[in-house]
Amino acid sequence: MLINLNMNKEVREHNVKLCREKGIVLPTFKQMAHPEQVPEEIKAKLKKVGLWDVNPLNLFRITWHNEPQEKGGQFGGVNYIEIPRAITGTKARVFALVGKYFPTGAHKVGATYACLAPALATGNFDASSQQAVWPSTGNYCRGGAYNSALLGCQSIAILPAEMSKERFEWLKKVAGEVIATPGCESNVKEIFDKCHELDAERGKHIVIFNQFEKFENYLWHYAITGQAILDVLDKEGIKDENVCGYASSTGSGGTIAAGDRLKERYPHLKISAGEALQCPTLLRNGFGGHRIEGIGDKHVPWVHNVKNTDMICAIDDEDCMRIFRLFNEPAGLKYLKEVVGLSQKDMDNLKLFGISGIGNMLSAVKMAKYYEMEEDDVVFTILTDSSAMYTTRLSEQTALHGEFTSDDAARVYGGSMMHQGMEDALELSYYERLRVHNLKYYTWVEQQGKTYDELNRQWYDRNYWKEIPQDLEKIDELIEEFNKDVGILK
Ligand SMILES: Cc1ncc(COP(=O)(O)O)c(C=O)c1O
Repeated sequence: MLINLNMNKEVREHNVKLCREKGIVLPTFKQMAHPEQVPEEIKAKLKKVGLWDVNPLNLFRITWHNEPQEKGGQFGGVNYIEIPRAITGTKARVFALVGKYFPTGAHKVGATYACLAPALATGNFDASSQQAVWPSTGNYCRGGAYNSALLGCQSIAILPAEMSKERFEWLKKVAGEVIATPGCESNVKEIFDKCHELDAERGKHIVIFNQFEKFENYLWHYAITGQAILDVLDKEGIKDENVCGYASSTGSGGTIAAGDRLKERYPHLKISAGEALQCPTLLRNGFGGHRIEGIGDKHVPWVHNVKNTDMICAIDDEDCMRIFRLFNEPAGLKYLKEVVGLSQKDMDNLKLFGISGIGNMLSAVKMAKYYEMEEDDVVFTILTDSSAMYTTRLSEQTALHGEFTSDDAARVYGGSMMHQGMEDALELSYYERLRVHNLKYYTWVEQQGKTYDELNRQWYDRNYWKEIPQDLEKIDELIEEFNKDVGILK
């Protein structure tokens, strides 16, 4: 069993009691994928709740279907955009899911809920007495701290010290404890070390929800992100043969799991794993610091199904930073409006791109060019969070490079965007995939206590990855029974 669904009845009782006292109802996976199934009494109450409010009703807003408004929003279609060809420079169409309208402003809140809900409903985490530990490079621990606050339980957020100021400031208000580990984005080993230290110090008093190894993270994206993309493809009436690519960077390796779901319906679809060129772990077994916050951590996450990955796209973080300036600085916006001629709608959408979202877009561009995709072909990608998470990065760039001018805008548009090519994109042969998979050995077997046998099963056992979605129904049943025992819903 890859997801722990063993029951601890005594602890489960504590959680039932806590949720009853606090009036908490847990959404099922089915409801997150199809929020039209959320009970009417909850929808009615949500009319008075802000998208980011620390209110347990917002657990029901862990879905791609939130109406994009600050307060009182209900559920509509999936939040997504088509990125215009004037930005991608590709013949193919590029679509992206929009993460900005999740509570906390990033989709990572979904992966944390996917870890918490089964643990609560089985009693594998005692929300009344234990602290939930959320090791992360940023958004995952924001999501975890947020969900913990909704439940009224204590949390510990762990993230590298060099992450953006916005993240730390917000976390200080929401998390019980915030621990900054040495280094930047790619220093995940230091985060794992801190987890072991906490485990040794606090033992039974904490539960570590390690996104890099928890299959609940995989499952949430397989089921929820995957379904959202399928909904968009249906809505847009894209023919099966034209659904050609899914481009996702890997941080914890969760988001890329949506590709596994898509491949079931479109077996010809290619999946690309993105990383920063400055930390080319997948591409070259490489390492290094970089500035695409949230991705690429000098290791291959345990939950990344490497055998199903067709391509690696390494993205230059300098391109991401320059495009981020182009999308947000006045001279960049003026250029895109007046010279490139973007529509007002496309201009408004520029704020939906965080730095990793720009990286994902560039991966989609590389894929479309590499596979010579035509006008009707589609590549899908993800905007995990939005520009709101990185405003201080803009002033840092200005301090470093000076004001962003119209000349800069022309250079970035012509270079980083229109001239984005196939360099640092690698289509994976069978043995190149195996090389990437084998890298897991050093992190997971040597350092983190996984077995050699399981590592081999990930590669050789054709049922290994298929087992994970088989738990979906069981998890929903457990959540429904839990809610029934809590007894809040009529
Ligand atoms: C901004 C951002 N982009 C991308 C990712 C990568 O997503 P995943 O961890 O699902 O691979 C993360 C993960 O935290 C993130 O915060």
